[in-house]
Amino acid sequence: MTVPRHLVSIDDLSLTEMEALFEKARLYSEDSRAWSHVARGSIVASLFYEPSTRTRLSFESAMLRLGGGVITAADMSFSSASKGESLADTVRVVAGYADALILRHQSEGAARLAAEYSAVPVINAGDGSHEHPTQTLCDLYSLWIERGRIEGLDVVFAGDLRYSRTVHSFAYALARFRANIVCVPQPGFEMPTHVVKRLREEFGVEPVRAEAGRLGELAAQSDVVYLTPQKPHQLSLFTDPQGLSVEHVDAVYMTRPQTERFGQDAVLDETNYVQLGKRQMAAESLRDAVVMHPLPRREEINADLDGDPRSIYFKQAARGVPIRMAILASLLGEADCLAGPGTARRPAWKAHAEGLVCGREACVSRTETRHVSPKFCLASRVPLLASCAYCSHEIPFGAVGCSTTRNFHLPGSRDLRKIRPDHMVFFSDPDGALAAGFSAAARVGHSR
Ligand code: CP
Repeated sequence: MTVPRHLVSIDDLSLTEMEALFEKARLYSEDSRAWSHVARGSIVASLFYEPSTRTRLSFESAMLRLGGGVITAADMSFSSASKGESLADTVRVVAGYADALILRHQSEGAARLAAEYSAVPVINAGDGSHEHPTQTLCDLYSLWIERGRIEGLDVVFAGDLRYSRTVHSFAYALARFRANIVCVPQPGFEMPTHVVKRLREEFGVEPVRAEAGRLGELAAQSDVVYLTPQKPHQLSLFTDPQGLSVEHVDAVYMTRPQTERFGQDAVLDETNYVQLGKRQMAAESLRDAVVMHPLPRREEINADLDGDPRSIYFKQAARGVPIRMAILASLLGEADCLAGPGTARRPAWKAHAEGLVCGREACVSRTETRHVSPKFCLASRVPLLASCAYCSHEIPFGAVGCSTTRNFHLPGSRDLRKIRPDHMVFFSDPDGALAAGFSAAARVGHSR
């Protein structure tokens, strides 16, 4: 059986593949009615455990435009999930009814789990606060259409950067395209540490506090941080690495407060939320910035901006159809945008864990315990960092074993360089390693 290609994370696509999807989407958008032969005879299933307007309907419209069929569970409370059926079982069953699955789920890592159980491609339509890769493709595609390029653009993220999954996926992708990101978070809703850490360590992005007076009231109440490639590219617009002045913005990406995902420590005064309206958009730096929003919006973009030619959020939503046509056609093997099997940037999925659980309550490894055991991937060898293979959260651990030698090492040991990632067994502490039958390795080469 061939292993299907999935779209679980924006990391599953190379930049070349993304650009091929943009080209295909542009072609499809020239005459959306001309492609009804592409997926004739194929069926996609949409499984939505959370509400959606744009993602579900634009995917379904895309599949119908391609001439295929759609089966949909738009409200999983009417499915056997309400009788206690697990996600893993649901996926195994529905994969027998369709040629691809589109999944939205409240648990972080749910799409990764679904991909492990599905015989057909799984498309992540949003997993908790984690990722929303097809929204990211829609956002990138919109920027690419509007600006003709992505490299070197200056994009402002404003609002709830903590719980917004669209921001996290979009930030990773913009960093890979070597664009600059200016963060204007609602106080208390800053970009999560694990996202900033990954941007820095994996993509070479350096957060710098920005001098952002020119962003006007948008930034008045927030700490503004510029996330920018460590090696400035030729299109870079700034000059002072200590206090970057935000002189010219290409896009403002607003997000609503993601109240449905707030943790217990999240306190928001909605009357004081970052606002964008005609007054804020009068700032000189925003003179030709496009205004983007994944939608739905609440109060964060005033209706007085809707008629402004810089406001593209409704066009952005409409572009969800051609880009999702390109995604579906490619995953169904009817378009040649994807180069063979997946090109995941973090392939070390096989690291095991003994006695460790993911710290995120919303992680699918904690909400689907019948079918999921915690699994970690190696984020960095030196210093040794592991993150949850499902929700990407970093996990503290106190010992690492080698499954072949049955020795364990402490995280600072240089001998860890010699262990293959798929032979690593992570333990919360040395006692856990001893209890599992591992022996303490000789302290030769220990760096502590
Ligand atoms: N942008 C987005 O994901 O919208 P929906 O929640 O309506 O799908």
